[in-house]
Amino acid sequence: MRILIIGSGGREHALAWKIAQSPRLEKLFVAPGNAGTSQVAVNVAIDGEDFEGIRTFVLEEKIQLVLVGPEAPLVAGISDFFAADPELRTIPVIGPSTRGAMLEGSKDFAKEFMKEFDIPTAASATFIGYNIEEAYDYLARMKPPYVLKADGLAAGKGVVILEDVEAARAELTRMLDGKFGKASEKVVIEEYLNGIELSVFVLTDGKNYVMLPEAKDYKRIGEGDTGLNTGGMGAVSPVPFADKAFLKKVEDRIVRPTIRGLATEKIDYRGFIFVGLMNVNGEPYVIEYNVRMGDPESEAVIPRIKNDFVDLLQATAEGRLSDIEMDIDPRTVTTVMLVSGGYPEAYEKGKVIHGTDRLDRALAFHAGTRETNGQIQTSGGRVLAVSAYGRTREEALSASYAELAKIRFDGMYFRKDIGFDL
Ligand code: AMP
Ligand code: GLY
Repeated sequence: MRILIIGSGGREHALAWKIAQSPRLEKLFVAPGNAGTSQVAVNVAIDGEDFEGIRTFVLEEKIQLVLVGPEAPLVAGISDFFAADPELRTIPVIGPSTRGAMLEGSKDFAKEFMKEFDIPTAASATFIGYNIEEAYDYLARMKPPYVLKADGLAAGKGVVILEDVEAARAELTRMLDGKFGKASEKVVIEEYLNGIELSVFVLTDGKNYVMLPEAKDYKRIGEGDTGLNTGGMGAVSPVPFADKAFLKKVEDRIVRPTIRGLATEKIDYRGFIFVGLMNVNGEPYVIEYNVRMGDPESEAVIPRIKNDFVDLLQATAEGRLSDIEMDIDPRTVTTVMLVSGGYPEAYEKGKVIHGTDRLDRALAFHAGTRETNGQIQTSGGRVLAVSAYGRTREEALSASYAELAKIRFDGMYFRKDIGFDL
């Protein structure tokens, strides 16, 4: 099979690494990819939102399946674009239709969906600018902390949590006044959930689904979960508090009703669902849906999947996921992200990376790297994800940390406490 992956981060390198192991693969391309994906696939310099460019390439190279990594091309409608084109229509895209992508692209849509299908989530209400007095009243009736969410995609910055009601009113006003542009024309005000977070991953063909390993990620830049939010500084899979009983609740109360909801609403959905959850005293609540795999969660989750990945993708495309039996590695995988100094604020690019070829007990998934003049250089805030297996979490972490010590680049930073809370 000839496959094209869209994206350029650590998630896409992990997907490419896994797909490249399949005997059913004929040729693998990544658009645009990075210096890691080029070790296992062919990079093509096309942006994921350049649908015409992708169309030309897919037809020229006789691509038989497209796997979309990030949310932006999905929210922009890549699946609908393929479905509407007579020459592309028969080429499956793994990634939902535009309506399906609204589960991530609109918090209000996701909340309405969860209410409709009785999926446990924080109580909430959505407001638009001309309802600001009602929004103030709603805030006044809530208890702190106050959770405000821009309805649309806001580069991971659209959720603001505030302790003080005056500060929350001021922030709400700024958001409805266009702080995040169109993304905050609507704002969801939500009840605060007190618990511990984890992420559950599902692959669905729209009717059937398989559960993938769960993971916990570490979003803050600083040790002890302090400082600014990032795209994710590390991940651990499995998650010890997500025992059989808890995961059964997740499957019964959240995953199955979600799939049923997609079918009832006739939403065309072949792809991954990433359910961000809060465990509140042993009960799962949905914080958010994403319509893709997580990053860096993928770098911990995908190495634990033993199934042939091309098989999984083909079964998804053909609506045959009910035939698939998942085979999951019982070992733990821990991922530690190496980032550029200054990230998630301003940072420099173009630093030469040394040592990625010296790892023998860990995998180095490239997130923000490029190859220039035969050298591997940094090209993003998150640079490399170092993933290692262990019989225990301690063993995996000690391998991740011992191996990442072989890597260096100017300004390299990482959290030394991944997994500290488990
Ligand atoms: P999101 O962009 O929806 O993932 O939200 C960003 C972060 O805000 C989440 O990862 C949580 O840590 C936090 N968060 C979102 N909603 C809530 C909530 N209702 N209660 C507590 N924390 C929340
Ligand atoms: N690590 C969080 C995300 O992929 O959204």
